[in-house]
Amino acid sequence: MILVVGGTGDLGGRVVRRLLDAGHRVRCLVRAGSDGSALRAAGAELVQGDLTDPASLRAACHEVDIVIASATVIGRRLAGVKGPTIRAVEDQGMAALIDAAEANKVQRFVYLSYAGVGEGPATPMSRAKAATERRLARSSMRRVIVRPDAFQEVHVAAVGRFDLKAGRVATFGRGNTRHRWVATEDVAALVAAVATERNPPELIEFGGPEALSRNECVAVAEHATGRSIKVMRAPLPVARLLTKVLQLSGRGDAMASIIGLGVMMDEYEITWDDAPLRERGITPRSTTDWINQQAAALAAG
Ligand SMILES: NC(=O)c1ccc[n+]([C@@H]2O[C@H](COP(=O)([O-])OP(=O)(O)OC[C@H]3O[C@@H](n4cnc5c(N)ncnc54)[C@H](OP(=O)(O)O)[C@@H]3O)[C@@H](O)[C@H]2O)c1
Repeated sequence: MILVVGGTGDLGGRVVRRLLDAGHRVRCLVRAGSDGSALRAAGAELVQGDLTDPASLRAACHEVDIVIASATVIGRRLAGVKGPTIRAVEDQGMAALIDAAEANKVQRFVYLSYAGVGEGPATPMSRAKAATERRLARSSMRRVIVRPDAFQEVHVAAVGRFDLKAGRVATFGRGNTRHRWVATEDVAALVAAVATERNPPELIEFGGPEALSRNECVAVAEHATGRSIKVMRAPLPVARLLTKVLQLSGRGDAMASIIGLGVMMDEYEITWDDAPLRERGITPRSTTDWINQQAAALAAG
């Protein structure tokens, strides 16, 4: 049995569907009030629980062989929904999930971190990811830490201030540092593979097939849409200061984390490539293809 914590999410849902298609038994931990009907219809078993409720995690891990933890509360925090903090869910909650998995003799724990973790300003998200990686390193379970680069559907899309329709893009710093923006579906294919392959590595840091800076993505988008795009640049010293100020108020944890990530992405040169995808037979989608698809969809109305 494979337990997925975060199955109602975008990445998590894709992982669940891939595992079910491959014939695995999948259980999803779903929060009270969240809609798990699509997961149930696809064939997953649902169990109600929450990362902030350790008893629910112990029950969810019963007779589980593999845990996949992709949950994040950042989307809800950014949307201003009242509820637990990033620290409560992604630091303390993930630690409780690891405890529960160990107590239930789970064999393998697959954890979603991000590429470049540990670099850039300290934020609630970077601390939680680093703390969970350290906690897993002390575990007797086989662990697979998956660190993807930024997702195309999030960072090269309107939600990530790369808005082709409005003709506006925001960037932290100069926007010249290259990233291997990766398709969420390609990340899901890798996560599903490493969850069950015989001898997975302990740490996988990777991205898509093309290394492009934010400015180069803008040039691709201008070419694809035939329109010029206005770029708004947040200077790094201002962004760095904002990550600190926002953390002083209890409610700014998600915004501080996003800005801190933006600073890291503008300062830190990538050291990874797409080999972990290709080694598993995954042909990753390029960022240029993704931007061209978005431009074509926009032109089609
Ligand atoms: N976006 C990127 O560019 C990027 C890059 C690298 C790594 N990552 C990592 O990839 C993962 C993203 O997954 P995703 O796209 O599926 O995220 P998502 O769409 O935001 O989904 C988040 C999931 O976490 C669940 N969750 C939130 N709070 C919870 C709690 N207290 N207890 C249990 N579950 C809870 C949500 O449940 P509800 O539906 O009930 O809220 C949902 O299933 C994250 O770990 C993220 O850090 C993202």
